[in-house]
Amino acid sequence: PIETTLVLIKPGGVQRNLIGTIAQRIEQRGLTLSGLKLIKAERATAEEHYAEHRERPFFGSVVDYLTSGPIVAMAVTGENATKAIRTMMGATNPVDAAPGTIRGDFALSIEDNLTHSSSDPEAAARELSLWFPEGTL
Ligand code: CMP
Repeated sequence: PIETTLVLIKPGGVQRNLIGTIAQRIEQRGLTLSGLKLIKAERATAEEHYAEHRERPFFGSVVDYLTSGPIVAMAVTGENATKAIRTMMGATNPVDAAPGTIRGDFALSIEDNLTHSSSDPEAAARELSLWFPEGTL
């Protein structure tokens, strides 16, 4: 099915000037950027975004990290976009990410793993409505 999914480029990816590289890989794959913005995330938005991790020990630090500098939010549309993007990004822990994936090529740290992408289509719908409110896509 044609889906729209959410990708965030985290502060480290923006600081390292990887916006173009990541966007290019997504477009080269045949997926379409249907929303794109550079923003400074509000703390409340970051907390809502990571709500499923609220009880985890790393919750505070990932919220701190996501709000530590500018990020890019992208809506990405295409055939099985959620799964295709997850595969392109590689394992959450970049140490385990295969070469050829974005993390496998550009990251080493679990916190600064360059991108967030929605885990499934239900998460994508929730996260898209958070980062791209009604009427902004
Ligand atoms: P992300 O896909 O943005 O979703 C949750 C984030 O928490 C994850 O990427 C990691 O960057 C971060 N994180 C930090 N520590 C851990 C951990 N031990 N396990 C999983 N995710 C972690």
